[in-house]
Amino acid sequence: MKIMRFSTRTLRIGQDPDREHGAVINPIYQSATFVWENLDTMPKHDYTRVVNPNRTALEAVLAEIENARYAVAFGSGMAAIAAAFSLLEAGDHLIIASDIYGGTYRLAKSQLTRQGIDVDEFDASRPESLREAVKQNTKLVIFESPTNPTLKVMDVAAIAAIARECGILSVVDNTFASPYLQTPIDLGVDVVVHSTTKYISGHSDVIGGALITNHEFIYQQALTYIKTVGSVPSPFDCWLTIRGVKTLAVRMERHCANAQRIAEYLSTHARVKHVYYPGLESDPGHELAKRQMKAFGGMVSFEVDGTTEQTKRFAEACRIFQLAESLGGVESIIGYPPVMSHGCMSPEERYAMGVYDTQIRLSVGIEDVEDLIEDLELAFETAFARETAVV
Ligand SMILES: Cc1ncc(COP(=O)(O)O)c(C=O)c1O
Repeated sequence: MKIMRFSTRTLRIGQDPDREHGAVINPIYQSATFVWENLDTMPKHDYTRVVNPNRTALEAVLAEIENARYAVAFGSGMAAIAAAFSLLEAGDHLIIASDIYGGTYRLAKSQLTRQGIDVDEFDASRPESLREAVKQNTKLVIFESPTNPTLKVMDVAAIAAIARECGILSVVDNTFASPYLQTPIDLGVDVVVHSTTKYISGHSDVIGGALITNHEFIYQQALTYIKTVGSVPSPFDCWLTIRGVKTLAVRMERHCANAQRIAEYLSTHARVKHVYYPGLESDPGHELAKRQMKAFGGMVSFEVDGTTEQTKRFAEACRIFQLAESLGGVESIIGYPPVMSHGCMSPEERYAMGVYDTQIRLSVGIEDVEDLIEDLELAFETAFARETAVV
């Protein structure tokens, strides 16, 4: 059979009709344990902390759409990142991008350091700075592209190449792009991690994660880690994630189209100081994103040209954009990073990352984009109403 293209693979891999009844949609194997026929042959599935048919099906499709050999599905994105970090031992050195998801930063800085792992940062927007950060005991580097919330585009192939030259493993968190927009293993990285909570499942109803690789030894370590620690997704969550994956391509196309329109609308708005979106030609990451990604993604950030209070009022005034944590679902979400995603950082740490008090992050959903723009316009009017009245 010919190699299937992306959208066909999301629908067909790991999803053959169930053999017993021919159901087009596979059942949920909501069972903790499985029967042994005899003691000489171990069953294919024996205990759900170790393996489960729904997890196996999800892993098959996740590996396929990242163009990789192996995937392990986890109970959260953080559990998948912790599994990648389980490749480290006391005495090893880890390098993290300074622009990284707060949970990854916390895990590295406050947990791994307590376990005898040395952690340093590098500026992923300057790939060469990785070489400067590498020490004799460096084992692994982790970074993201595009980043949260300033949507900087990092040169994945350049960072992966330097990591390889330095003899260290590279891990990229591909959550913001999704495998529809970018497949980092093709660009040379060793490991991809995901919060499948976001675009992959796509409906804000599952917490999940994945680790994907071509390396047999990393896959085996991830399997040993998951069965030992038990950070498994439930069968139902695997089933829901597979259901989400089936529409990943069409969702991403709509997310990207809507985000582009919104970024353009914001970029000429009188109440907006700066828009962060790699789809804008003026964005410093535009050319790199064009080479590295299929389109520019569904996340848009911007700085309000107003006070902190007006920025908060703006976020609260939206009606279609819901004020909530998370991203990547079909419904639009508005976030205020200083209190939400980056709330655990001091203002100084945040400012160093370029996350200011007037920053807004939008996860642009798949609604009618005219409704989304009207919602933002009304929120600007509400947030700045008093100022206009005084004037
Ligand atoms: C880029 C990124 N990586 C990892 C995570 C952690 O994922 P989870 O919440 O599924 O544990 C998040 C969560 O927001 C994220 O944005």
